[in-house]
Amino acid sequence: MKVLLIGSGGREHALAWKLAQSPRLTKLYAAPGNPGIGEEAELVAINTEDQQAVLAFCQANAIDFIVVGPEAPLVAGLADTLREAGFTVFGPSAAAAQLEGSKGFTKDICAKYSISTGAYQRFTAAEPAKAYIREQGAPIVIKADGLAAGKGVTVAMMVDEALDAVDSCFDGAFGAAGAEVVVEAYLDGEEASFFCLCDGTHALALASAQDHKRVGDGDTGPNTGGMGAYSPAPVMTPDMVERTMKEIIEPTIRGMTDSGHPFSGVLFAGLMITKKGPELIEYNVRFGDPETQVLMMRLKSDLLTLLHAAATGTLDQMDAEWRDEAALTVVMASRGYPGTYEKNTPITALPEADANTKVFHAGTALKDGQLVATGGRVLNVTAMGDTVGAAKATAYAALAKVKWENGFSRSDIGWQAVAREKA
Ligand code: AMP
Ligand code: GLY
Repeated sequence: MKVLLIGSGGREHALAWKLAQSPRLTKLYAAPGNPGIGEEAELVAINTEDQQAVLAFCQANAIDFIVVGPEAPLVAGLADTLREAGFTVFGPSAAAAQLEGSKGFTKDICAKYSISTGAYQRFTAAEPAKAYIREQGAPIVIKADGLAAGKGVTVAMMVDEALDAVDSCFDGAFGAAGAEVVVEAYLDGEEASFFCLCDGTHALALASAQDHKRVGDGDTGPNTGGMGAYSPAPVMTPDMVERTMKEIIEPTIRGMTDSGHPFSGVLFAGLMITKKGPELIEYNVRFGDPETQVLMMRLKSDLLTLLHAAATGTLDQMDAEWRDEAALTVVMASRGYPGTYEKNTPITALPEADANTKVFHAGTALKDGQLVATGGRVLNVTAMGDTVGAAKATAYAALAKVKWENGFSRSDIGWQAVAREKA
């Protein structure tokens, strides 16, 4: 099979690495990719926002299967454009991608299909939103409706903070994404990321992970795209996975089919495990970053076969097998991230990969033969171990071999799981 992978982050490097191991793969292309992905795939310099350019490439190169990594092209309808031209694509239609593209859309599905999630109201003007907040009190959560690169959410511990968040949304802090605001009840518990493949009708549970969204040790400082992750998430016991499938994922799949927008691709549920059980915080319609890096380390099954089954409606015949060990990844980011940072700083040494360690590239590039950091999140140092603690020790030992002066990382990825293992 000739495969084109769309994307250029650590998630796509992990997907490329795993796709490249498939016996069914004859050729892997990636657009635009990065130097790490370039070790697994032939990089193609097309603008992936230009759907006609992507389509022309697929036609000219007789591509059999396209895997779309990030959400933006999905929300923009890349999967629709390619499918209409007869291609097989992993990733939802633009209509089904609304599960990530509009928080209000997802909340309405939850209400209609009795899916556990925080009570909410949607608003298109500040005053009614503020009146609702005053009535509900704090803590309370304010969300810009649309895609805001993970930055459109304020978990307000005080009413004043919530009122300010409403003003900043309607004042345009998140552009068009903030034209509608969702005000949601605060959920108390432990968070987990849970992934399933869907083929429009069936859902196949993959695995769970825990992400560290805050930039600083001890989960302090501003939110980021994710500073590290580990898998599996201990809070996702077999019973919790079964409840999540029955109470959250399966009704969502039914709801999407009933509404005429069957969902195919990967459904990534951000969950809060509360005293009542699993509750949905949000959906994403693509793999998590950096969660995918740890998932791919643990996946024993052939990724290409699984993704192709999701795209062709044959998931009911599939099973996914996982290594029992834990995987953990530490993100190295450019100093200043998630604020402003210097670009093109040199990375002069990386550790060798071995059976249990792998460095995935995110925001890197080659400039005159020198590897440089071009993004906020730049490297994902990933390791396996019998316990999360062992994986953590191996990952940080590998990270110590990275020579990159402008890089930083958290030093405590996996702390909750390590504390549990010691208890
Ligand atoms: P989201 O972009 O919706 O994933 O929200 C970003 C982060 O805000 C989540 O990972 C949670 O840590 C937090 N969050 C979102 N919604 C809630 C909620 N209803 N209750 C508590 N925390 C929340
Ligand atoms: N790590 C969270 C995300 O991919 O959205």
